[in-house]
Amino acid sequence: MSDSTHEDEESAPERDARADGGATGADDVALDPWGSETIADYRKLFEEFGIEEFESVLPDTPDPHYLMRRGVIFGHREYDAVAEAMRNDEPFAALSGFMPTGDPHIGHKLVFDELIWHQEQGADAFGLIADLEAHSARGLSWDEIDEHARNYLLSLLALGFDPEDGELYRQSDNREVQDLAFELGSKANFSEFEAIYDFGGETNISHLQSVVTQTADILYPQLVDEPKPTVIPVGPDQDPHVRLTRDLAVRTRFFKVTKAFASFELDDDERQLVRAAYDALPAGESDVRCEDAAEWLETYGPVPELADAKPSAIRKLEEAGKEPLRPRVRFFDRNATEEAFEDLIESIEGEKRVFEGHIDTFDLSRAEAEELAREVEVDNGGFGFQQPSSIYHRFMTGLTGGKMSSSVPASHISLLDDPEDGYDKVKAATTGGRETAELQRELGGEADDCPVYELYAYLLAGDDDELTKRVYEECVNGERLCGGCKEQAAELMKEFLEDHQEKREEVEDLLDAADIDLDSDRRGSGGGGH
Ligand code: TRP
Ligand code: SF4
Repeated sequence: MSDSTHEDEESAPERDARADGGATGADDVALDPWGSETIADYRKLFEEFGIEEFESVLPDTPDPHYLMRRGVIFGHREYDAVAEAMRNDEPFAALSGFMPTGDPHIGHKLVFDELIWHQEQGADAFGLIADLEAHSARGLSWDEIDEHARNYLLSLLALGFDPEDGELYRQSDNREVQDLAFELGSKANFSEFEAIYDFGGETNISHLQSVVTQTADILYPQLVDEPKPTVIPVGPDQDPHVRLTRDLAVRTRFFKVTKAFASFELDDDERQLVRAAYDALPAGESDVRCEDAAEWLETYGPVPELADAKPSAIRKLEEAGKEPLRPRVRFFDRNATEEAFEDLIESIEGEKRVFEGHIDTFDLSRAEAEELAREVEVDNGGFGFQQPSSIYHRFMTGLTGGKMSSSVPASHISLLDDPEDGYDKVKAATTGGRETAELQRELGGEADDCPVYELYAYLLAGDDDELTKRVYEECVNGERLCGGCKEQAAELMKEFLEDHQEKREEVEDLLDAADIDLDSDRRGSGGGGH
Protein backbone atom coordinates (compact mmCIF):
# COMPACT_ATOMS: atom_id res chain seq x y z
CA MET A 1 0.00 0.00 0.00
CA SER A 2 2.99 2.22 -0.19
CA ASP A 3 1.84 2.57 -3.77
CA SER A 4 -0.75 5.26 -4.14
CA THR A 5 -1.45 4.38 -7.77
CA HIS A 6 -5.13 4.65 -8.32
CA GLU A 7 -6.94 1.70 -9.76
CA ASP A 8 -7.57 3.24 -13.11
CA GLU A 9 -7.64 1.37 -16.34
CA GLU A 10 -4.41 2.85 -17.61
CA SER A 11 -2.15 1.60 -14.91
CA ALA A 12 -3.78 -1.79 -14.39
CA PRO A 13 -1.98 -3.72 -17.14
CA GLU A 14 1.36 -2.49 -15.91
CA ARG A 15 0.70 -3.68 -12.40
CA ASP A 16 -0.53 -7.00 -13.68
CA ALA A 17 2.64 -7.40 -15.66
CA ARG A 18 4.64 -6.90 -12.52
CA ALA A 19 2.52 -9.39 -10.67
CA ASP A 20 3.01 -11.93 -13.43
CA GLY A 21 6.71 -11.45 -13.07
CA GLY A 22 6.43 -13.02 -9.66
CA ALA A 23 6.52 -9.86 -7.65
CA THR A 24 3.96 -10.01 -4.92
CA GLY A 25 3.18 -7.38 -2.41
CA ALA A 26 1.75 -4.01 -1.94
CA ASP A 27 1.83 -2.84 -5.52
CA ASP A 28 -0.63 -5.36 -6.87
CA VAL A 29 -3.71 -4.02 -5.20
CA ALA A 30 -3.94 -0.64 -3.64
CA LEU A 31 -6.54 0.13 -1.05
CA ASP A 32 -6.59 3.88 -1.14
CA PRO A 33 -9.30 5.70 0.81
CA TRP A 34 -8.87 8.79 -1.33
CA GLY A 35 -8.36 7.01 -4.63
CA SER A 36 -10.97 5.84 -7.06
CA GLU A 37 -13.51 3.26 -6.10
CA THR A 38 -12.67 0.18 -8.10
CA ILE A 39 -11.09 -3.04 -7.06
CA ALA A 40 -9.38 -5.02 -9.78
CA ASP A 41 -9.51 -8.33 -8.00
CA TYR A 42 -11.47 -8.97 -4.86
CA ARG A 43 -9.67 -12.25 -4.20
CA LYS A 44 -6.44 -10.39 -3.62
CA LEU A 45 -8.01 -8.58 -0.73
CA PHE A 46 -8.22 -11.86 1.11
CA GLU A 47 -4.68 -12.93 0.37
CA GLU A 48 -2.87 -9.65 0.69
CA PHE A 49 -4.79 -7.80 3.35
CA GLY A 50 -6.26 -10.59 5.39
CA ILE A 51 -9.87 -9.57 4.85
CA GLU A 52 -11.95 -12.69 5.43
CA GLU A 53 -14.66 -14.08 3.20
CA PHE A 54 -18.11 -13.15 4.35
CA GLU A 55 -19.39 -16.59 3.37
CA SER A 56 -17.72 -18.06 6.42
CA VAL A 57 -19.85 -16.03 8.86
CA LEU A 58 -23.04 -16.06 6.81
CA PRO A 59 -24.43 -19.23 8.44
CA ASP A 60 -23.92 -17.70 11.89
CA THR A 61 -25.67 -14.45 11.01
CA PRO A 62 -29.32 -14.38 12.02
CA ASP A 63 -31.70 -13.44 9.19
CA PRO A 64 -28.94 -12.17 6.91
CA HIS A 65 -29.65 -9.09 4.83
CA TYR A 66 -30.09 -9.64 1.09
CA LEU A 67 -26.78 -7.92 0.40
CA MET A 68 -25.20 -10.60 2.57
CA ARG A 69 -27.16 -13.44 0.97
CA ARG A 70 -26.24 -12.29 -2.52
CA GLY A 71 -22.55 -11.90 -1.90
CA VAL A 72 -22.61 -8.12 -2.36
CA ILE A 73 -21.17 -7.99 1.13
CA PHE A 74 -18.20 -10.17 0.35
CA GLY A 75 -15.71 -9.66 3.15
CA HIS A 76 -15.32 -8.92 6.81
CA ARG A 77 -13.00 -8.59 9.75
CA GLU A 78 -14.10 -10.34 12.93
CA TYR A 79 -17.78 -10.09 12.11
CA ASP A 80 -18.13 -13.29 14.20
CA ALA A 81 -18.11 -11.14 17.33
CA VAL A 82 -21.03 -9.06 16.06
CA ALA A 83 -23.01 -12.05 14.84
CA GLU A 84 -22.54 -13.71 18.21
CA ALA A 85 -23.79 -10.66 20.08
CA MET A 86 -26.77 -10.54 17.75
CA ARG A 87 -27.57 -14.20 18.36
CA ASN A 88 -27.28 -13.85 22.11
CA ASP A 89 -29.13 -10.58 22.38
CA GLU A 90 -26.07 -8.88 23.76
CA PRO A 91 -25.21 -5.24 23.14
CA PHE A 92 -23.48 -4.41 19.88
CA ALA A 93 -23.13 -1.36 17.69
CA ALA A 94 -22.92 -0.33 14.05
CA LEU A 95 -21.32 2.84 12.75
CA SER A 96 -20.49 4.32 9.40
CA GLY A 97 -19.53 7.68 8.09
CA PHE A 98 -20.18 9.69 4.96
CA MET A 99 -17.97 12.23 3.37
CA PRO A 100 -20.32 14.94 2.11
CA THR A 101 -18.59 15.68 -1.17
CA GLY A 102 -21.60 15.46 -3.49
CA ASP A 103 -25.06 14.01 -3.74
CA PRO A 104 -25.77 10.63 -2.15
CA HIS A 105 -26.15 7.99 -4.85
CA ILE A 106 -27.20 4.37 -5.13
CA GLY A 107 -23.74 3.23 -3.99
CA HIS A 108 -24.22 5.04 -0.68
CA LYS A 109 -27.59 3.39 -0.34
CA LEU A 110 -25.81 0.10 0.30
CA VAL A 111 -24.17 1.51 3.41
CA PHE A 112 -27.37 3.25 4.54
CA ASP A 113 -29.19 -0.07 4.25
CA GLU A 114 -26.48 -1.93 6.13
CA LEU A 115 -26.60 0.55 9.01
CA ILE A 116 -30.38 0.45 9.14
CA TRP A 117 -30.50 -3.33 9.05
CA HIS A 118 -28.10 -3.55 11.99
CA GLN A 119 -30.17 -1.00 13.86
CA GLU A 120 -33.25 -3.15 13.26
CA GLN A 121 -31.33 -6.15 14.57
CA GLY A 122 -30.76 -4.27 17.80
CA ALA A 123 -27.51 -2.39 17.25
CA ASP A 124 -26.78 1.00 18.73
CA ALA A 125 -26.51 2.69 15.37
CA PHE A 126 -24.40 5.71 14.46
CA GLY A 127 -24.29 7.72 11.26
CA LEU A 128 -21.73 10.44 11.01
CA ILE A 129 -20.84 13.18 8.59
CA ALA A 130 -17.12 13.24 7.87
CA ASP A 131 -16.96 16.99 7.49
CA LEU A 132 -13.39 17.34 8.73
CA GLU A 133 -12.27 14.87 6.11
CA ALA A 134 -14.25 16.57 3.33
CA HIS A 135 -12.75 19.93 4.26
CA SER A 136 -9.15 18.84 4.76
CA ALA A 137 -8.76 16.07 2.17
CA ARG A 138 -11.13 17.30 -0.51
CA GLY A 139 -11.14 21.02 0.07
CA LEU A 140 -14.90 21.47 0.29
CA SER A 141 -16.22 24.68 1.81
CA TRP A 142 -18.30 24.54 4.96
CA ASP A 143 -21.38 25.72 3.08
CA GLU A 144 -21.09 22.95 0.55
CA ILE A 145 -20.54 20.48 3.34
CA ASP A 146 -23.68 21.63 5.18
CA GLU A 147 -25.79 21.24 2.08
CA HIS A 148 -24.48 17.81 1.15
CA ALA A 149 -24.66 16.60 4.73
CA ARG A 150 -28.33 17.44 4.81
CA ASN A 151 -28.91 15.43 1.66
CA TYR A 152 -27.08 12.38 2.96
CA LEU A 153 -28.98 12.45 6.21
CA LEU A 154 -32.39 12.89 4.58
CA SER A 155 -31.75 9.80 2.49
CA LEU A 156 -30.50 7.85 5.50
CA LEU A 157 -33.66 8.74 7.42
CA ALA A 158 -35.93 8.17 4.44
CA LEU A 159 -34.58 4.65 4.09
CA GLY A 160 -35.45 3.92 7.70
CA PHE A 161 -32.71 5.00 10.10
CA ASP A 162 -34.29 5.84 13.44
CA PRO A 163 -32.57 8.98 14.78
CA GLU A 164 -34.26 8.73 18.15
CA ASP A 165 -32.88 5.29 18.77
CA GLY A 166 -29.58 5.91 17.02
CA GLU A 167 -27.16 8.82 16.89
CA LEU A 168 -26.21 11.21 14.13
CA TYR A 169 -23.29 13.55 14.42
CA ARG A 170 -20.73 15.50 12.47
CA GLN A 171 -17.04 15.02 13.25
CA SER A 172 -16.37 18.68 13.93
CA ASP A 173 -19.16 18.91 16.47
CA ASN A 174 -18.43 15.88 18.54
CA ARG A 175 -16.20 16.84 21.42
CA GLU A 176 -15.90 13.29 22.73
CA VAL A 177 -14.75 12.08 19.33
CA GLN A 178 -12.19 14.88 19.19
CA ASP A 179 -10.86 14.03 22.64
CA LEU A 180 -10.69 10.37 21.76
CA ALA A 181 -8.91 11.24 18.52
CA PHE A 182 -6.29 13.15 20.48
CA GLU A 183 -5.79 10.19 22.77
CA LEU A 184 -5.52 7.70 19.92
CA GLY A 185 -3.16 10.00 18.06
CA SER A 186 -0.69 9.59 20.87
CA LYS A 187 -0.48 5.87 20.02
CA ALA A 188 0.30 6.35 16.33
CA ASN A 189 3.26 7.96 14.66
CA PHE A 190 3.93 9.62 11.36
CA SER A 191 5.95 6.76 9.87
CA GLU A 192 2.92 4.53 10.15
CA PHE A 193 0.83 7.05 8.27
CA GLU A 194 3.48 7.17 5.59
CA ALA A 195 3.38 3.41 5.28
CA ILE A 196 -0.39 3.01 5.44
CA TYR A 197 -1.59 6.00 3.45
CA ASP A 198 1.46 7.02 1.51
CA PHE A 199 1.40 10.34 3.31
CA GLY A 200 4.51 12.44 3.01
CA GLY A 201 6.00 15.81 3.70
CA GLU A 202 3.43 17.52 1.49
CA THR A 203 0.39 16.06 3.27
CA ASN A 204 -1.55 18.73 5.08
CA ILE A 205 -1.74 18.33 8.82
CA SER A 206 -5.52 18.59 8.99
CA HIS A 207 -5.73 15.61 6.70
CA LEU A 208 -3.71 13.67 9.30
CA GLN A 209 -6.08 14.94 11.92
CA SER A 210 -9.07 13.75 9.94
CA VAL A 211 -7.61 10.24 9.80
CA VAL A 212 -7.11 10.18 13.54
CA THR A 213 -10.67 11.46 13.84
CA GLN A 214 -11.89 8.53 11.79
CA THR A 215 -10.20 6.06 14.14
CA ALA A 216 -12.03 7.82 16.96
CA ASP A 217 -15.32 7.62 15.05
CA ILE A 218 -14.85 3.89 14.75
CA LEU A 219 -14.31 3.43 18.48
CA TYR A 220 -16.83 6.03 19.59
CA PRO A 221 -19.77 3.60 20.03
CA GLN A 222 -17.76 1.84 22.72
CA LEU A 223 -17.13 5.10 24.51
CA VAL A 224 -20.74 6.15 24.67
CA ASP A 225 -21.70 3.38 26.97
CA GLU A 226 -19.45 0.33 27.32
CA PRO A 227 -17.02 -1.72 25.26
CA LYS A 228 -18.96 -3.89 22.83
CA PRO A 229 -18.67 -5.53 19.43
CA THR A 230 -19.02 -2.88 16.74
CA VAL A 231 -19.40 -3.34 13.03
CA ILE A 232 -18.25 -0.75 10.52
CA PRO A 233 -20.01 -1.29 7.16
CA VAL A 234 -17.87 0.30 4.44
CA GLY A 235 -16.33 -0.24 1.03
CA PRO A 236 -12.99 -2.06 1.00
CA ASP A 237 -11.17 1.21 0.26
CA GLN A 238 -11.75 2.04 3.93
CA ASP A 239 -10.01 -1.07 5.18
CA PRO A 240 -6.73 0.76 5.92
CA HIS A 241 -8.64 2.86 8.46
CA VAL A 242 -10.20 -0.23 9.98
CA ARG A 243 -6.87 -1.98 10.32
CA LEU A 244 -5.21 1.04 11.86
CA THR A 245 -8.06 1.41 14.32
CA ARG A 246 -7.90 -2.25 15.27
CA ASP A 247 -4.22 -1.75 16.06
CA LEU A 248 -4.77 1.43 18.01
CA ALA A 249 -7.55 -0.20 20.03
CA VAL A 250 -5.06 -2.81 21.21
CA ARG A 251 -2.41 -0.21 21.97
CA THR A 252 -4.66 1.65 24.37
CA ARG A 253 -5.31 -1.45 26.47
CA PHE A 254 -3.93 -1.55 30.02
CA PHE A 255 -3.28 -5.29 30.09
CA LYS A 256 -2.45 -7.96 27.63
CA VAL A 257 -3.69 -11.42 28.42
CA THR A 258 -1.64 -14.38 27.21
CA LYS A 259 -1.14 -18.03 28.01
CA ALA A 260 2.14 -19.16 29.48
CA PHE A 261 3.68 -22.33 30.85
CA ALA A 262 6.42 -21.08 33.13
CA SER A 263 7.98 -17.84 34.31
CA PHE A 264 9.53 -16.97 30.97
CA GLU A 265 7.89 -15.53 27.85
CA LEU A 266 7.07 -17.48 24.72
CA ASP A 267 6.06 -16.26 21.32
CA ASP A 268 3.07 -17.90 19.63
CA ASP A 269 5.09 -20.53 17.79
CA GLU A 270 7.19 -21.42 20.81
CA ARG A 271 4.05 -21.70 22.88
CA GLN A 272 2.61 -24.29 20.52
CA LEU A 273 5.77 -26.35 20.83
CA VAL A 274 5.81 -26.18 24.60
CA ARG A 275 2.13 -27.10 24.64
CA ALA A 276 2.93 -30.18 22.55
CA ALA A 277 5.61 -31.16 25.05
CA TYR A 278 3.34 -30.55 28.00
CA ASP A 279 0.58 -32.65 26.49
CA ALA A 280 2.95 -35.46 25.61
CA LEU A 281 4.72 -35.77 28.96
CA PRO A 282 3.01 -37.77 31.70
CA ALA A 283 1.74 -35.44 34.40
CA GLY A 284 1.90 -38.10 37.10
CA GLU A 285 3.06 -37.78 40.69
CA SER A 286 5.98 -35.53 40.00
CA ASP A 287 5.71 -32.24 38.14
CA VAL A 288 6.80 -32.00 34.58
CA ARG A 289 9.93 -29.87 34.58
CA CYS A 290 11.11 -27.47 31.93
CA GLU A 291 14.26 -29.49 31.32
CA ASP A 292 12.16 -32.62 30.65
CA ALA A 293 10.19 -30.70 28.06
CA ALA A 294 13.42 -29.46 26.47
CA GLU A 295 14.62 -33.02 26.19
CA TRP A 296 11.34 -34.18 24.68
CA LEU A 297 11.39 -31.36 22.15
CA GLU A 298 14.90 -32.31 20.97
CA THR A 299 13.52 -35.38 19.24
CA TYR A 300 10.16 -33.88 18.25
CA GLY A 301 9.56 -33.16 14.58
CA PRO A 302 7.01 -30.32 14.48
CA VAL A 303 5.06 -29.13 11.43
CA PRO A 304 7.39 -27.11 9.17
CA GLU A 305 5.92 -23.73 10.20
CA LEU A 306 7.06 -24.30 13.76
CA ALA A 307 10.52 -25.67 13.00
CA ASP A 308 12.17 -22.26 13.26
CA ALA A 309 10.90 -21.77 16.78
CA LYS A 310 12.32 -25.03 18.06
CA PRO A 311 15.84 -23.94 19.03
CA SER A 312 14.65 -20.91 20.99
CA ALA A 313 11.92 -22.89 22.74
CA ILE A 314 14.45 -25.49 23.79
CA ARG A 315 16.88 -22.86 24.99
CA LYS A 316 14.26 -21.18 27.14
CA LEU A 317 13.18 -24.47 28.65
CA GLU A 318 16.76 -25.46 29.39
CA GLU A 319 17.47 -22.16 31.07
CA ALA A 320 14.46 -22.66 33.31
CA GLY A 321 15.84 -26.07 34.29
CA LYS A 322 13.94 -27.60 37.18
CA GLU A 323 11.12 -25.08 37.17
CA PRO A 324 7.82 -26.97 36.88
CA LEU A 325 5.90 -26.58 33.67
CA ARG A 326 2.40 -25.40 34.50
CA PRO A 327 -0.17 -23.81 32.22
CA ARG A 328 -1.31 -20.42 33.38
CA VAL A 329 -2.98 -17.26 32.18
CA ARG A 330 -0.78 -14.20 32.31
CA PHE A 331 -1.74 -10.56 32.62
CA PHE A 332 0.84 -8.28 31.18
CA ASP A 333 1.04 -4.71 32.26
CA ARG A 334 1.00 -2.80 28.99
CA ASN A 335 -0.23 0.68 29.86
CA ALA A 336 -1.73 0.27 33.29
CA THR A 337 -1.44 2.79 36.06
CA GLU A 338 -0.06 1.55 39.35
CA GLU A 339 -3.53 1.70 40.88
CA ALA A 340 -4.98 -0.37 38.08
CA PHE A 341 -2.24 -2.97 38.49
CA GLU A 342 -2.91 -3.16 42.23
CA ASP A 343 -6.62 -3.34 41.61
CA LEU A 344 -6.11 -6.22 39.20
CA ILE A 345 -4.05 -8.14 41.76
CA GLU A 346 -6.81 -7.68 44.32
CA SER A 347 -9.50 -8.75 41.87
CA ILE A 348 -7.96 -12.05 40.80
CA GLU A 349 -9.57 -14.98 42.53
CA GLY A 350 -7.68 -18.19 43.22
CA GLU A 351 -4.00 -18.87 42.97
CA LYS A 352 -1.89 -16.07 41.54
CA ARG A 353 1.72 -15.00 41.42
CA VAL A 354 2.76 -11.41 41.10
CA PHE A 355 5.92 -10.43 39.25
CA GLU A 356 7.38 -7.17 38.10
CA GLY A 357 5.14 -6.16 35.20
CA HIS A 358 3.00 -9.26 35.06
CA ILE A 359 0.72 -11.49 37.08
CA ASP A 360 0.30 -15.23 36.58
CA THR A 361 -3.02 -16.83 37.45
CA PHE A 362 -3.81 -20.51 37.68
CA ASP A 363 -7.57 -20.72 38.16
CA LEU A 364 -8.86 -18.43 35.44
CA SER A 365 -9.71 -19.30 31.87
CA ARG A 366 -8.39 -17.05 29.18
CA ALA A 367 -11.87 -15.65 28.52
CA GLU A 368 -12.46 -14.93 32.20
CA ALA A 369 -9.11 -13.21 32.35
CA GLU A 370 -9.94 -11.06 29.32
CA GLU A 371 -13.16 -9.99 30.93
CA LEU A 372 -11.53 -9.16 34.23
CA ALA A 373 -8.78 -7.18 32.51
CA ARG A 374 -11.37 -5.10 30.70
CA GLU A 375 -13.41 -4.51 33.83
CA VAL A 376 -10.42 -3.35 35.86
CA GLU A 377 -9.27 -1.14 33.01
CA VAL A 378 -12.64 0.57 32.64
CA ASP A 379 -12.92 1.01 36.43
CA ASN A 380 -9.55 2.69 36.43
CA GLY A 381 -10.09 5.25 33.72
CA GLY A 382 -9.20 3.19 30.65
CA PHE A 383 -11.31 2.54 27.56
CA GLY A 384 -11.31 -1.26 27.52
CA PHE A 385 -11.90 -1.23 23.75
CA GLN A 386 -12.72 -4.33 21.81
CA GLN A 387 -11.23 -4.41 18.35
CA PRO A 388 -13.85 -3.13 15.92
CA SER A 389 -15.27 -5.43 13.24
CA SER A 390 -16.05 -4.52 9.65
CA ILE A 391 -17.98 -5.71 6.63
CA TYR A 392 -17.13 -4.83 3.04
CA HIS A 393 -19.44 -4.54 0.05
CA ARG A 394 -18.59 -4.70 -3.61
CA PHE A 395 -18.59 -1.47 -5.52
CA MET A 396 -21.32 -1.18 -8.11
CA THR A 397 -20.29 -1.10 -11.73
CA GLY A 398 -21.09 2.13 -13.50
CA LEU A 399 -24.16 2.12 -15.72
CA THR A 400 -21.94 3.02 -18.63
CA GLY A 401 -19.53 0.17 -17.82
CA GLY A 402 -16.30 0.84 -15.95
CA LYS A 403 -16.48 2.45 -12.59
CA MET A 404 -19.29 4.40 -11.07
CA SER A 405 -17.99 7.92 -10.85
CA SER A 406 -19.60 10.99 -9.41
CA SER A 407 -18.01 13.08 -12.14
CA VAL A 408 -19.80 11.05 -14.85
CA PRO A 409 -23.52 11.58 -14.18
CA ALA A 410 -24.62 8.89 -16.63
CA SER A 411 -22.53 6.31 -14.76
CA HIS A 412 -24.50 6.52 -11.54
CA ILE A 413 -27.93 7.34 -10.24
CA SER A 414 -28.16 9.96 -7.57
CA LEU A 415 -30.82 9.52 -4.94
CA LEU A 416 -31.87 13.05 -5.88
CA ASP A 417 -32.14 12.36 -9.62
CA ASP A 418 -35.45 13.17 -11.20
CA PRO A 419 -37.24 9.78 -11.43
CA GLU A 420 -37.57 10.25 -15.18
CA ASP A 421 -33.81 10.77 -15.49
CA GLY A 422 -33.30 7.64 -13.42
CA TYR A 423 -35.57 5.80 -15.84
CA ASP A 424 -33.61 7.11 -18.83
CA LYS A 425 -30.24 6.27 -17.33
CA VAL A 426 -31.26 2.66 -16.80
CA LYS A 427 -32.65 2.46 -20.33
CA ALA A 428 -29.35 3.76 -21.66
CA ALA A 429 -27.19 1.47 -19.53
CA THR A 430 -24.61 -0.95 -20.87
CA THR A 431 -25.66 -4.58 -20.57
CA GLY A 432 -24.18 -8.02 -20.65
CA GLY A 433 -26.33 -8.81 -23.66
CA ARG A 434 -25.30 -10.26 -27.02
CA GLU A 435 -25.15 -8.38 -30.27
CA THR A 436 -28.44 -9.64 -31.63
CA ALA A 437 -31.62 -11.04 -30.13
CA GLU A 438 -30.94 -14.24 -32.00
CA LEU A 439 -27.53 -14.67 -30.40
CA GLN A 440 -28.96 -13.79 -27.02
CA ARG A 441 -31.55 -16.57 -27.36
CA GLU A 442 -28.87 -18.98 -28.41
CA LEU A 443 -26.07 -18.13 -25.97
CA GLY A 444 -27.87 -16.38 -23.14
CA GLY A 445 -26.80 -13.04 -21.71
CA GLU A 446 -23.87 -12.43 -19.40
CA ALA A 447 -25.68 -11.47 -16.22
CA ASP A 448 -22.45 -11.66 -14.24
CA ASP A 449 -21.05 -8.80 -16.32
CA CYS A 450 -24.20 -6.78 -16.56
CA PRO A 451 -24.68 -3.48 -14.70
CA VAL A 452 -28.43 -3.89 -15.11
CA TYR A 453 -28.40 -7.25 -13.39
CA GLU A 454 -26.42 -5.61 -10.61
CA LEU A 455 -29.15 -3.03 -10.21
CA TYR A 456 -31.64 -5.81 -9.60
CA ALA A 457 -29.42 -7.65 -7.16
CA TYR A 458 -28.11 -4.63 -5.23
CA LEU A 459 -31.24 -2.55 -5.13
CA LEU A 460 -34.29 -3.07 -7.32
CA ALA A 461 -35.26 -6.56 -6.20
CA GLY A 462 -35.07 -5.53 -2.57
CA ASP A 463 -35.63 -8.55 -0.37
CA ASP A 464 -37.14 -10.57 -3.21
CA ASP A 465 -34.61 -13.31 -3.91
CA GLU A 466 -37.01 -14.95 -6.34
CA LEU A 467 -36.95 -11.96 -8.64
CA THR A 468 -33.15 -11.79 -8.62
CA LYS A 469 -32.95 -15.48 -9.36
CA ARG A 470 -35.52 -15.27 -12.11
CA VAL A 471 -33.75 -12.38 -13.86
CA TYR A 472 -30.45 -14.21 -13.63
CA GLU A 473 -31.69 -17.52 -14.89
CA GLU A 474 -33.87 -16.15 -17.65
CA CYS A 475 -30.93 -14.04 -18.74
CA VAL A 476 -28.31 -16.76 -18.90
CA ASN A 477 -30.80 -19.20 -20.45
CA GLY A 478 -31.53 -16.80 -23.26
CA GLU A 479 -35.17 -16.37 -22.34
CA ARG A 480 -34.75 -12.74 -21.41
CA LEU A 481 -33.83 -9.98 -23.82
CA CYS A 482 -32.16 -6.80 -22.74
CA GLY A 483 -34.80 -4.40 -24.03
CA GLY A 484 -37.53 -5.81 -21.82
CA CYS A 485 -35.18 -6.43 -18.97
CA LYS A 486 -34.08 -2.81 -18.95
CA GLU A 487 -37.64 -1.58 -19.30
CA GLN A 488 -38.59 -3.50 -16.17
CA ALA A 489 -35.52 -2.25 -14.31
CA ALA A 490 -36.08 1.33 -15.43
CA GLU A 491 -39.67 1.23 -14.18
CA LEU A 492 -38.55 -0.14 -10.84
CA MET A 493 -35.88 2.53 -10.60
CA LYS A 494 -38.38 5.26 -11.32
CA GLU A 495 -40.72 3.92 -8.68
CA PHE A 496 -37.90 3.63 -6.20
CA LEU A 497 -36.79 7.23 -6.77
CA GLU A 498 -40.32 8.58 -6.57
CA ASP A 499 -40.98 6.73 -3.38
CA HIS A 500 -37.61 7.63 -1.87
CA GLN A 501 -37.95 11.31 -2.65
CA GLU A 502 -41.41 11.40 -1.18
CA LYS A 503 -40.05 9.85 1.98
CA ARG A 504 -37.21 12.36 2.04
CA GLU A 505 -39.78 15.11 2.29
CA GLU A 506 -41.61 13.30 5.03
CA VAL A 507 -38.53 12.96 7.21
CA GLU A 508 -37.51 16.62 7.07
CA ASP A 509 -39.08 17.26 10.44
CA LEU A 510 -37.38 14.24 11.87
CA LEU A 511 -34.04 15.62 10.72
CA ASP A 512 -34.77 19.08 12.08
CA ALA A 513 -35.58 17.50 15.43
CA ALA A 514 -32.38 15.45 15.43
CA ASP A 515 -29.48 16.73 17.44
CA ILE A 516 -27.19 17.68 14.58
CA ASP A 517 -26.27 21.16 13.44
CA LEU A 518 -26.43 21.54 9.66
CA ASP A 519 -25.78 25.25 9.71
CA SER A 520 -22.19 25.55 10.71
CA ASP A 521 -20.78 29.03 10.93
CA ARG A 522 -17.23 27.86 10.54
CA ARG A 523 -14.80 29.94 8.54
CA GLY A 524 -11.81 29.14 6.39
CA SER A 525 -10.86 27.29 3.24
CA GLY A 526 -9.73 23.74 3.59
CA GLY A 527 -6.84 21.88 2.07
CA GLY A 528 -7.33 19.64 -0.89
CA GLY A 529 -6.02 16.37 -2.17
CA HIS A 530 -3.33 14.38 -0.49
N1 TRP B 1 -13.55 8.05 5.24
C1 TRP B 1 -14.96 7.76 4.99
C2 TRP B 1 -15.27 8.06 3.53
O1 TRP B 1 -14.43 8.49 2.81
C3 TRP B 1 -15.86 8.51 5.91
C4 TRP B 1 -15.72 8.15 7.36
C5 TRP B 1 -15.30 8.97 8.36
C6 TRP B 1 -16.04 6.91 7.97
N2 TRP B 1 -15.34 8.35 9.56
C7 TRP B 1 -15.80 7.09 9.37
C8 TRP B 1 -16.50 5.69 7.49
C9 TRP B 1 -16.00 6.05 10.26
C10 TRP B 1 -16.70 4.65 8.40
C11 TRP B 1 -16.45 4.85 9.78
O2 TRP B 1 -16.37 7.87 3.10
FE1 SF4 C 1 -28.43 -7.72 -18.41
FE2 SF4 C 1 -31.01 -8.16 -18.42
FE3 SF4 C 1 -29.63 -8.12 -20.70
FE4 SF4 C 1 -29.33 -10.13 -19.00
S1 SF4 C 1 -31.15 -9.61 -20.10
S2 SF4 C 1 -27.70 -9.02 -20.04
S3 SF4 C 1 -29.54 -9.07 -17.05
S4 SF4 C 1 -29.94 -6.42 -19.31
